Amino acid sequence: MKPFFLLVAGGLIVLALGALALWRGGSALDRADPENAVQVARGRVAYAQHCASCHGDSLQGQPNWRQRKADGKLPAPPHDDTGHTWHHADQQLFRITKDGVKPPLAPEGYESDMPAFGDVISDEEIWEVLSFIKSTWAEKSRAYQERIDQAFRKQAKQE
Ligand code: HEC
Repeated sequence: MKPFFLLVAGGLIVLALGALALWRGGSALDRADPENAVQVARGRVAYAQHCASCHGDSLQGQPNWRQRKADGKLPAPPHDDTGHTWHHADQQLFRITKDGVKPPLAPEGYESDMPAFGDVISDEEIWEVLSFIKSTWAEKSRAYQERIDQAFRKQAKQE
């Protein structure tokens, strides 16, 4: 009887820890949700603090953002409807923000001024910033990005 009891107790502890991890939200989060007012509000603050210096106070990007600078690198693009942030799936935006513009999202050796934020803000904060960015898009851009995102999730599941 005793080993069986230990097994059941152990199982319950694992379940409880799993539920706690889900409840705390961290790793369970895998999408940016522009309808979540709390996430958007937090993301707005984090955006102003960490992203606005390059991507602009009103997400307008740097001047002449389509043209490479003298050093060959690209300026920061807008995150509003005039840019191309809404052409990318959630996971791609998350990885760029966390790791910078690196393979597999860019060619090996690609040089970019986009910093990696993995050591600066938490995964949760990255999703919050992305939720805020998404919340500024017009309905049309949101719908377009939603389709790209769905296709990307489907493909990721098959791989
Ligand atoms: C020091 C300047 C700088 C800061 C600060 C910065 N970025 Fe960037 N970001 C860039 C540059 C430059 C690019 C273009 C990179 C390239 O294509 O080489 C970029 C590109 C991106 C892209 C890809 C957009 C696209 O359409 O391809 C995303 C997403 C992004 N940044 C998110 C963020 C977020 C979120 C923050 C704040 C947490 C942030 N960035 C802060 C400079 C910056």
